[in-house]
Amino acid sequence: MKPFVIKNKFTPRGKICLAGDKSIAHRALIISVLSRGKTIIKNFPLHDDSLATLGALTVLGAKISRVNHQVSVWGVKGLSKPRKPIFVNNSGTTLRLILGVLAGLDFETKIIAAKYLAVRPMSRVNKPLRLMGAKITAKNSGAEEYPPLVISGGNLKGITYHMPVASAQVKSAILLAGLSALGKTRVIERVGTRDHTERMLKAFGANITVNKNCVTLNPVRCLISPGRIYIPGDISSAAFLTVLAVIIPGAKVVIERVSINPSRCGIINVLKRMGAKIKVMPLKNKLQSFEPMANLTVSSGKLKPALVNSSEIPSLIDELPVLMVAACFAEGRTIIKGAGELRFKETDRINSMLINLRSMGADIRLIKSGSSENIVINGKGALNGAKLKSFGDHRTAMSVVIAALGAKGSSRLDDISCISKSFPGFLTTLKSLLR
Ligand code: S3P
Repeated sequence: MKPFVIKNKFTPRGKICLAGDKSIAHRALIISVLSRGKTIIKNFPLHDDSLATLGALTVLGAKISRVNHQVSVWGVKGLSKPRKPIFVNNSGTTLRLILGVLAGLDFETKIIAAKYLAVRPMSRVNKPLRLMGAKITAKNSGAEEYPPLVISGGNLKGITYHMPVASAQVKSAILLAGLSALGKTRVIERVGTRDHTERMLKAFGANITVNKNCVTLNPVRCLISPGRIYIPGDISSAAFLTVLAVIIPGAKVVIERVSINPSRCGIINVLKRMGAKIKVMPLKNKLQSFEPMANLTVSSGKLKPALVNSSEIPSLIDELPVLMVAACFAEGRTIIKGAGELRFKETDRINSMLINLRSMGADIRLIKSGSSENIVINGKGALNGAKLKSFGDHRTAMSVVIAALGAKGSSRLDDISCISKSFPGFLTTLKSLLR
């Protein structure tokens, strides 16, 4: 545990460029491995989660080399039965996406997870993969399944699957399994989730069509590498610095080459509705990222409260903790509807954020309405320093650091080591904005 004291207040000013988007990085690695030809991936992020995917694929026999933020992948002639279980650390995306790949391979693999992932639900992904023909056993507790898992795949058939929960990880696992299935695979979502898998599969020549919230994949003989992929900056990491620049008077931060995929831009849309001064300057895509990119210029300003509808949640699911922080710095009532999925992340983020923000003096409540969990924040335009807890969760930790930097008085956070899961450069980036 690395405790962290936040007392030196500063006015963030400057220009930064962030490491590549975590979600895109997982897909870039996995899909390159499944394709013919060499792929060079640039701006690859070096955090625990993307390295877990790199490690898992290597254990499965993939040929990958890395020099700093550049990864070279030699498309595979066939992944092979690993000699040891695959360890995916705490990366839920690695686990669920790799399950989709393994569902198509006719050997048995055991996957083990570290402590925060070992208590996250897996039936949501096991169920559709079993319908496609994969054999999966998992640790059972009541009606839910958890890691470790053992999967043996092969001989899959395509399915039409109506998603019961909004999850890009589950959708992606089904699509990756669908690559080797007999017949068509179709995934229908009630609310669209991040579409990085669809975009990347298309860039690698997959026969994939998207019609509103319905994705259809027909198998092709093989995927072909486009040669190079540039991963734009992670919008989920950018969200912390954006909220920081919005809430600290006099701040101005430019974040270059950030992913602005519409299925991920909920945080920018909501902050703009709250009156935040965010300029989005789209960039011409010369870097082959298959994803839209922009420079963001964020300046401080007064925030209004907002109503966030449940249909917006998938587009900002990972940014909800830091959005709650922003709402505390607005004056008036912010309502976030349908936030229940936050309970199934690295920690229960409704619980972690309510405890932390209340200790900072926030008026924040959970109101249940039928099966919907709504968060109501009566923003007072300020927070006070306090003793804060990360709950072992990177996004809770970074959100409360941002809250503490905007708060009156100093704060102490019990542990910051968990931020290496997605943004190991968080503190260095904050320091680079010190003026
Ligand atoms: C992710 C999807 C989301 C998100 C996670 C990354 C992905 O999870 O919270 O951080 O890369 O597909 P769910 O699919 O569980 O919503």
